Amino acid sequence: MQNTNIMNTEAKIAYQKNDNGYYIYDISGAGLKQNYNDYSADDHQVWQTLYEKQIKNLVNGAVTEDYLKGLELLGFDSKKIPNFDEVNELLIKASGWNIYVVLGLIPTKEFFELMKNKKFCATTWLRRKDQMDYLEEPDMFHDVFGHVPLLSNKSLCNFIQGLSNIALKYIDNQDIIDLIGRVYWFTIEFGLIKENNILKIYGAGIISSAGETDYSLNSPIPERLPYNVEKMLDSSFFKDNYQTKYFVLDSFEQLENSLPEIEERIDKIHQNMVAEV
Ligand SMILES: [Fe+2]
Repeated sequence: MQNTNIMNTEAKIAYQKNDNGYYIYDISGAGLKQNYNDYSADDHQVWQTLYEKQIKNLVNGAVTEDYLKGLELLGFDSKKIPNFDEVNELLIKASGWNIYVVLGLIPTKEFFELMKNKKFCATTWLRRKDQMDYLEEPDMFHDVFGHVPLLSNKSLCNFIQGLSNIALKYIDNQDIIDLIGRVYWFTIEFGLIKENNILKIYGAGIISSAGETDYSLNSPIPERLPYNVEKMLDSSFFKDNYQTKYFVLDSFEQLENSLPEIEERIDKIHQNMVAEV
């Protein structure tokens, strides 16, 4: 991982090891900062190359209109790596959310606590030129280009916040957290939506992948099911391959309005778990 960009003079960094490797995060609350002046010419070129390759697919009708509106509202541009201070000023006005700098993966509890408080985690480092098509963990192109424009959509934001509240209720129960992970995965990362009867993408995992943009919309291989909380909770997903199943929303309001059902089903699953013990 490249983290040369981070300014961390005020923040205290904690390291914690678990089965998935090292997590690194700020424990002081001072917050890490994007060190904008540290981006090299290569970094800017990587951003521009990735952006220009993918924006062609997106503006041709592949992505939800709300994403394109967000992109414009936040002033994203292929020729300039987004400056988080500038983006946050606009994003806070739009939805009250802001980008929160992390070095990489952080513990689940912190992840959901930040989102409960309208803070979305993003790294500040970009892949190298020799890693353009594959990365083991998300870089800034995924976190920022993929996720941030839709953080201007209030229904989607309310959904993330509501899902985080449900997760925090069961934060010590890994089985429940895994189920909530499925919901997050099939919506925020790999969700599809129908707009004016046309299938579009809104999940950040697809938005930041030119290959999966085409595959998710056009391939005959994957199933595309109407949005269904029960089926989503019952479906496993793939981290290292394209999905075999996508769930299709009718609207972002449908996503937000599904929170009570998600909570009800999770509560019931938890009650059954407790009863079985
Ligand atoms: Fe993501």
